[in-house]
Amino acid sequence: MLDVVHPTAKMLVDVALAQDIEAGDGTTTVAVLAGSLLTASQFLLEKGIHPNAIADGFLVALKKSLEIIDKVSKPISLEYKAEIQENVETALSSKAVSQMSDTFAPIAVEAVLRVADLVNHNADVKEIRVCKKPGGTVEDTEFIEGVVLTDSFPAHIADGPNEMKDCKIGIVQFHLSAPKTEMEMTVVVNDNATMDRLIKEERKYILAMVKKIVEAGANVLLIQKSILRDACSDLALHFLAKKNILVIKDIEREDVPFLCTALNAKPIAHIDQFSADKFGHADLIREVTLGNDTRITKITGIPSKKSCTILIRGSSKLILDEAERSMHDALCVVRSLIKKPSNIAGGGAIELELAYRLSEFIRKEELTGVQKMVIEAFMQALETIPYTLAENAGFNPLEIVSKLKAIHVKGNSSFGLDIKKGDLCDMWQAKVIQPSLVTISALSLAVEFVRVIMKIDDLVMAA
Ligand SMILES: Nc1ncnc2c1ncn2[C@@H]1O[C@H](COP(=O)(O)OP(=O)(O)OP(=O)(O)O)[C@@H](O)[C@H]1O
Ligand SMILES: [Mg+2]
Repeated sequence: MLDVVHPTAKMLVDVALAQDIEAGDGTTTVAVLAGSLLTASQFLLEKGIHPNAIADGFLVALKKSLEIIDKVSKPISLEYKAEIQENVETALSSKAVSQMSDTFAPIAVEAVLRVADLVNHNADVKEIRVCKKPGGTVEDTEFIEGVVLTDSFPAHIADGPNEMKDCKIGIVQFHLSAPKTEMEMTVVVNDNATMDRLIKEERKYILAMVKKIVEAGANVLLIQKSILRDACSDLALHFLAKKNILVIKDIEREDVPFLCTALNAKPIAHIDQFSADKFGHADLIREVTLGNDTRITKITGIPSKKSCTILIRGSSKLILDEAERSMHDALCVVRSLIKKPSNIAGGGAIELELAYRLSEFIRKEELTGVQKMVIEAFMQALETIPYTLAENAGFNPLEIVSKLKAIHVKGNSSFGLDIKKGDLCDMWQAKVIQPSLVTISALSLAVEFVRVIMKIDDLVMAA
């Protein structure tokens, strides 16, 4: 959301966005990596190395890194939810809601596995509805196997029901109120008889609609919000209540597609099309009071085995927003594992192992000159990650990184910094693990970013 002007900074923002789309987590990592690769290339350019050589060298280093990641990563079985949860907990540990990872991690795993398409190795996290409702604490966040409406409630009128079992639900996109004239105009009524006739006509019009609805057999109406006029007049509400039909008004337009999938319904755009084949179904619709003046509507027992809702609670808007962002990261981590069921050691371990193995690669291939320099610069850029982690956790970064480097040389490939314990240890044991996909995507995007800039540099030089 930064308001940046410099074209390179704009590209950097795009890189973070791309990472968010691809992996959903690791946006900070990709920005840090891209930044340090850029610094490294500036250093190389100043040494007189051609931008093309830098771009090519980074590509070699990237390819090698991806091979190494493939070797050091561990496959994960999606049946072991505990292991998936550990990945989520790592992602949450840098968030404001990190203490709540006990609540968030299981919810995220449950929700994503529900919507996951294990055959095609994908999961559409948009199928999971994440709602926020102020009040309570973040620990009260809950997972609901159904739909929750936070702003629309059963209309309380006359003796109408506000709870319904065995629901036959019509999703209504037309108006249940007196029609409006096509053009803006005023009707002047100046005698009682006309007034009476007008009211009678309105009653007749609405009664006809209600009759159709009753005949079709619906017992619940979800009415889409309208900006043109009242989507459902008080008179209509009154008649519907008499017929024991539960009415929920003010359904947001954006919520309709989700509701249709969840309830297996088709939206109805005109009263003439109001028929049972378009109805959605649910076992129960109920209004639930969560505390002082806080209500939600729960729709449970729905036909879709996938659709579900995460209801985030929190004491202030700030916390709710942060909790929502963290939940997004948590969901994306699970999705990354479904896309590629493998994980790697976090806490800087993977970056240092890559740096170490790249140095081995230089040695074995007997690389010299420009290629060696470029790959070494790449290695140094990788070290920024453990360096930054240590710095942010309040440790002496130089000391930590050099100690860790020595440990990796001795063959302990999964040693990193556990910021919670402030200890250098095996990340598999400390359970600081993360999806391989997050790191793979961050590395690839960061390298691509620098390669594009080197290309521009080359063009500028040629001009
Ligand atoms: N307990 C821990 N100890 C050490 N390092 C950790 C721990 N938990 C997470 N990390 C590391 O923190 C880094 C992730 O930090 P963070 O979540 O803040 O940024 P990101 O994932 O790159 O970006 P964002 O989450 O903002 O999209 C990873 O390198 C991960 O290995
Ligand atoms: Mg993260």
